[in-house]
Amino acid sequence: MAILFDSTSRLFTLKTAHSMYQMKADRYGVLLHTWFGMKGSVFDYSYRIAYADRGFSGNPYDAGEDRTYSLDALPQEFPVYGSGDYRSTALKIRYPDGTTACDLRYLKHEIREGKYSLPGLPALYDTLPDGAPAEKAGQVKRRTPADTLVITLEDTRHMFCVHLYYGVMEDLDIITRAVCVENHSDADIYIENIQSVCVDYLHGEYDLHTFYGRHVKERNYQRTPVVHGIQSVGSTRGTSSHQYNPFLILSDRDTTEDAGSCYGFSFLYSGDFTGSAELDQYDQTRLLLGIHPDNFCYCVKPDECFYAPEAAMAYSGHGLGNLSRIFHRAYRSHLCRGKWTAKRRPVLLNDWEGVYFDFDGDKLIQMARDASELGVELFVMDDGWFGRRDLDVSGLGDWIVNEKKLGCTLSELSDQIHGLGLQFGIWFEPEGINEDSDLYRAHPDWAFRIPGKQPTRSRLQLLLDFSREDVRDYIFSHMCQVLDSARIEYLKWDLNRSLADLYSAVLPADRQGEIMHRYVLGLYDMLEKLIQRYPDMLIEGCSGGGGRFDAGMLYYTPQIWCSDDTDAIERLSIQYGTSFGYPVSTMGSHVSHCPNEQTRRIAPLNTRATVAMSGTFGYELDVNKMSGEEKEIVKAQIQEFKKYYDLIQYGDYYRLTNPDIVEAYHGWEFAAPDGSEALLCIVALQIHPNGPGRWMRLKGLKQESIYMVNGLEYPGDALMNGGLLLPDATEEYQSFRIHITEKSV
Ligand code: DGJ
Repeated sequence: MAILFDSTSRLFTLKTAHSMYQMKADRYGVLLHTWFGMKGSVFDYSYRIAYADRGFSGNPYDAGEDRTYSLDALPQEFPVYGSGDYRSTALKIRYPDGTTACDLRYLKHEIREGKYSLPGLPALYDTLPDGAPAEKAGQVKRRTPADTLVITLEDTRHMFCVHLYYGVMEDLDIITRAVCVENHSDADIYIENIQSVCVDYLHGEYDLHTFYGRHVKERNYQRTPVVHGIQSVGSTRGTSSHQYNPFLILSDRDTTEDAGSCYGFSFLYSGDFTGSAELDQYDQTRLLLGIHPDNFCYCVKPDECFYAPEAAMAYSGHGLGNLSRIFHRAYRSHLCRGKWTAKRRPVLLNDWEGVYFDFDGDKLIQMARDASELGVELFVMDDGWFGRRDLDVSGLGDWIVNEKKLGCTLSELSDQIHGLGLQFGIWFEPEGINEDSDLYRAHPDWAFRIPGKQPTRSRLQLLLDFSREDVRDYIFSHMCQVLDSARIEYLKWDLNRSLADLYSAVLPADRQGEIMHRYVLGLYDMLEKLIQRYPDMLIEGCSGGGGRFDAGMLYYTPQIWCSDDTDAIERLSIQYGTSFGYPVSTMGSHVSHCPNEQTRRIAPLNTRATVAMSGTFGYELDVNKMSGEEKEIVKAQIQEFKKYYDLIQYGDYYRLTNPDIVEAYHGWEFAAPDGSEALLCIVALQIHPNGPGRWMRLKGLKQESIYMVNGLEYPGDALMNGGLLLPDATEEYQSFRIHITEKSV
């Protein structure tokens, strides 16, 4: 059992393969946080707490005359607003009398085998998906070891309980957390703030690593020292957003890719979030992650429960690279679900950058024919196939096939594409609606807009109120009509604006603060119905590129379009940033035309493939516009991708350099978990005539083994310590894919 409880000291110790997490219900029943970090002896780490009389830091009443006991200074597991702790807290409740001061004490706990799940919300699971890589590698286990701890705290006014959920996934080195508030009074209470994670660090100087961005430039990596005050990132856009990602890392100041301590926090949620680090007056650091409180106020009725979403946490004592690989492994096989989790995904051609809205059935068939000759396996018809949708200004919401534009039914189109040996996929934006649509004309109140106020438009569209079941049911049934009318193996679920003008016609005034969260629950509800009804369909998430690239979506869609920026060089930074929290098997990545649509940059076709192969590989162009020579190159690329598929998708991913720090060559690597082979990917960011030699140090090989690289033999330690001498780049942005294999003995 990975969860230990000492009933004398009321100490909870949670252990994974390499980490340890500890809490203690102290003499007053306050749940202290005592340790998160390197695994060690099961010892009561509360010995590290310094109790002292601290001016202007109040004392709980039951501490009597003990002025050294103050919640303002103690490390706590779930600090609450109004308890005398003036730092940011994890919970704020408005009681029926309008007051908000709260005090929680330990009541009981339960330890059980297996990982908990959450109603209507994504959560890591402990079973292995069919055909999962672990099975392929010869392990016959059907479950990964996991246990659940539920600690119940009670409000001292006896109105509600808080159940703190912990999932300890031992082999995965992951601990998950979630929170449930249960109202056992006979009056309504209102949650004004609830954070899924709080971790207090008693001492140490830390850096906060976050991922910021914008449309067409998501998840840029930023590392800043945590200084006194609060540093936070978040989203109030209704989605996790392009602007900040709900994945954060806290590390020691000297932590590098390969050495030092770091802690990763990933929120399995696709809506408003906030993540913050606060350095307090006693140089203690508090990390919080949860739903953003700005647009959130949730009424919990008597006998009802509210579940705050899950967050996954991991500790690495061996640097940031190891931390990322912990998340990669866990998300690949214990978050993503369904048939496509462990099955090779088809190489696709998406028509969007090739033709945008300008197509008919013949043009699509021609594109598909060209694509099939190159080895593409799936043809995706993006936006523009329904309603009056010849531009982005109309038709959204009218999920009726435009047979006039296609010149045939969807079934006929799909049959023709299948006749070419390809699978067929289509695009939807189920949450969106144009005012110029039949749906809007029939149901204007289904879209978010506030009576008496003009709405904020974005891409000339509004959003449907997905918190409403009737609205979701309508859209779902229309989607099903389309999906049932033809052979469709893939669906792209897009969303092209942020939420605004929140008002739900079916909620009373005092519950309008629930819309943002109900919207996300509605989205999850519909995605769940979709995957239950179409279990074999591959669903790709998307939000104007990577505006909803989060662990919550990955529970429903095993891949997400990473960015609308398909420029290979821009993508280096985008995919680099994304790799900190997410595996390459989740990153939608395509080769597109040059000059690139977004940047006008010209990068070699080979480089575009090197970058796109480090994701869910595909193409997004009009094959008809390619030369014969280019087509031959593409054929070879697809074959090469298939050859290295397992190594890329299930191998260990190593960041070798940071593309945003100017170095001549940028590199990354996929190594087989057993060190038997590796694929080194290099992109030359600078070329200099008569330039110096360039080396890249490999990682993840076996020190003592001999490896073959381009017909030459090297010991593993030489490749990792001395590095591999790289070829000279003779062309701007030239790339190299170098396969390294262990010499058979
Ligand atoms: C935004 C997506 O990111 C694109 O790939 C494309 O599907 C467009 N929407 C279509 O409107």
